[in-house]
Amino acid sequence: MDGLFEVESSHSTGIYTKHPIAIVRGEGARVWDSTGREYIDCMAGHGVANLGHAHPAVARAIAEQAARLITCHEAFYNDQRAAAIARLARLRRGLDRVYLCNSGTEAVESAFKFARLSTGRSGIVAAMRGFHGRTMGALSATWNRHYREPFEPLVPGFRHVPFNSIASMEEAVDGDTAAVVLEVVQGEGGVHVAAPGYLEAAQRICRAQGALLIIDEVQTGLGRTGKMLAVEHFDLTPDLLCLAKSIAGGVPMGAVLIGRAVRGFAPGMHGSTFGGNPLACAAAVAALQAIEEERLPQQAAEKGAYLMQRLRSIESPLIREVRGLGLMIGVELKRKVAPYLEALLQQGLIALPAGLTVIRFLPPLVITYPQLDAVVEAVKSVIAQPALVAGEE
Ligand SMILES: Cc1ncc(COP(=O)(O)O)c(C=O)c1O
Repeated sequence: MDGLFEVESSHSTGIYTKHPIAIVRGEGARVWDSTGREYIDCMAGHGVANLGHAHPAVARAIAEQAARLITCHEAFYNDQRAAAIARLARLRRGLDRVYLCNSGTEAVESAFKFARLSTGRSGIVAAMRGFHGRTMGALSATWNRHYREPFEPLVPGFRHVPFNSIASMEEAVDGDTAAVVLEVVQGEGGVHVAAPGYLEAAQRICRAQGALLIIDEVQTGLGRTGKMLAVEHFDLTPDLLCLAKSIAGGVPMGAVLIGRAVRGFAPGMHGSTFGGNPLACAAAVAALQAIEEERLPQQAAEKGAYLMQRLRSIESPLIREVRGLGLMIGVELKRKVAPYLEALLQQGLIALPAGLTVIRFLPPLVITYPQLDAVVEAVKSVIAQPALVAGEE
């Protein structure tokens, strides 16, 4: 389209920092811009395209369902919704009820409402550096001041404790706490993995105090960390588990998996016009089946270990730490990462920041080993660029 940059720039809000590149096509872990230039996509739409771009089974399911029935409110039953719910309800034993919605923040928002409903309490304990979305409830659980302050006052009843501190959790959770909400790996907050025993301790503390445990797997879910759900790395059955991003192969969808301790549901108290629509559900059925059939969790574990080891072998005084789980990897620099991300883009590699100093890799789980090698070579080369180092100092 002629003038597309100008149209987007003049008529959108300006709330996104945009690169002057138009991505118009994708396949697997590669995308192409409007000039035909190819990129390796380690952003994957912020961790959405776990299956890669233009996955044939997902594309087929969407096309077939679009020609049959796109919308059907939950006031009626639907074949695709039932199929999606059946798959989601067997992801984790004990979490066999499912609420369907349209995004990550909506899943988190819903989980908070369900926790307050079920316990009759209002307190929510979240972690410092946590990210849970940008609607008012989810934003209240999000830590970063930059996202929160322009919109205050936020929802009352929320407090934050240091991530990975069991003692702080013990001190914060009491008889007024409806729920504790945690990520297994804090994504936006800098790729910080939960310490061994931390999430289990949070679960124990919640149970002792009659509070519910919400695990936000919007970013870690569905193969990303090397397991179908990241909670599988631990001995953990939360009461509510939030999913979104990759759940429907790129079609907007969110879900809350709900355990038996969560009670109090009655008709009309919560809902969503688009939630559980047949188009998203058909895409989810195809996506979840493909993730299983292609053994993407195992692929993420193996490729993640390979990428992590290769990144760790880069010798540079600029790198503070390489950390992560599966194909959710952060390279923390001793400097701000913005110029390095820009330099990677110039080399045809799209990566993400996580905070100011972490380069984050969330590639499609179908990324190939030669593509992973290309990622490592690009990182090596930009880290070695003296101009970038000098420019930052
Ligand atoms: C852990 C986590 N929770 C919630 C969200 C919000 O999801 P959405 O952008 O779909 O609202 C995100 C988005 O990055 C996330 O990483």
